[in-house]
Amino acid sequence: MPHFVPRVFSGMQPTGNLHLGNYLGAMLNWIAMQETHECIYCVVDMHAITVWQEPAELRKAIIDVTAAYLACGLDPKKSIIFNQSQVAEHAELAWILSCVARLGWLNRMTQFKEKAGKDKEAASVGLYIYPNLMAADILAYHATHVPVGEDQKQHLELARDIAIKFNNDYASAIDDGIFFPPPEPFITGPATRVMSLRDGTKKMSKSDPSDLSRLNLTDDADTIARKIRKAKTDPEALPSEAAGLKGRPEAENLVGIFAAFKGDSVDKILAQYGGGQFSSFKNDLADLAVAKLGPIGDETKRLRADPAYVESVLKDGSERARTIAAPIVRKAREIVGFIVS
Ligand code: TYM
Repeated sequence: MPHFVPRVFSGMQPTGNLHLGNYLGAMLNWIAMQETHECIYCVVDMHAITVWQEPAELRKAIIDVTAAYLACGLDPKKSIIFNQSQVAEHAELAWILSCVARLGWLNRMTQFKEKAGKDKEAASVGLYIYPNLMAADILAYHATHVPVGEDQKQHLELARDIAIKFNNDYASAIDDGIFFPPPEPFITGPATRVMSLRDGTKKMSKSDPSDLSRLNLTDDADTIARKIRKAKTDPEALPSEAAGLKGRPEAENLVGIFAAFKGDSVDKILAQYGGGQFSSFKNDLADLAVAKLGPIGDETKRLRADPAYVESVLKDGSERARTIAAPIVRKAREIVGFIVS
């Protein structure tokens, strides 16, 4: 079996502001992995247009999300940071993988069902085959580890299935058995699924019509404190152990957020706050959130005001990304039998 260098790939969509779910579910691991792995972090603009985006707003969102990446602590000297559409290999490989993936596999994707809603006939074809593009994003770099939140698990399993099927289908054309390493999902921490602050059974998301449901990474201190104060809770006191959070989704969510910010376990947080009321816990959580998110918001705003710098990061990152992806996708074309001159 060939040896693949450990390599991280992940991405976020430039649609609206990044929020606490993106930060705790994925970004904290992205930042940490920069110290241990070769990392490639993408702003997935091609995924964004699977639903309608005003061109001028998309352009701005790409800059804004890149600014947020940098403000959170992604370092262009350590990691490759770029926007997907500047590396054509993603689209090229996605086509090949669309011919490997089976219709039945895509029919099982729950995120398509959620996003397409009732009128599936009116959804774009791109929204349907989006997981093939996501597989291409990862496989074009022979990435081995993919840090994401819980909601991306099914897409990653599909990416693994596509990699395995490609390796099997084309085994006779692959020298040492495996061409695409099946990528490993990396989904860890106390907040892999951050829930809405208004409803502990719904995922925190950009598309929730209520801004009170989420903390945006650019919210100011007053807004953060107000949203946490207004966050839904239940009438019971906080439990002293994690098991006591069962059946209490809002409490579980807030304690998970606290633990993720602190870098501590849920049990450790409950050892301190168990038996107490939500009010003092919420005050401390608000202080913690302001301390962590405030500087990120300030730095994001500063970088947004310098789009030329942000664009230069994307240009440089795209060139470095292409250097890795081009030979891999070229080889994939050869493997499937295309003439590559
Ligand atoms: P996206 O843009 O929806 O979300 C970006 C990252 O944030 C995580 N996330 C959450 N984590 C915990 N709780 C939440 N409420 C929450 N909301 C979002 C997501 O799991 C994700 O890690 N398809 C992907 C982008 C993508 C990608 C890729 C990821 C495209 N190609 C290749 C990894 C590898 C998406 O739409 O993420």
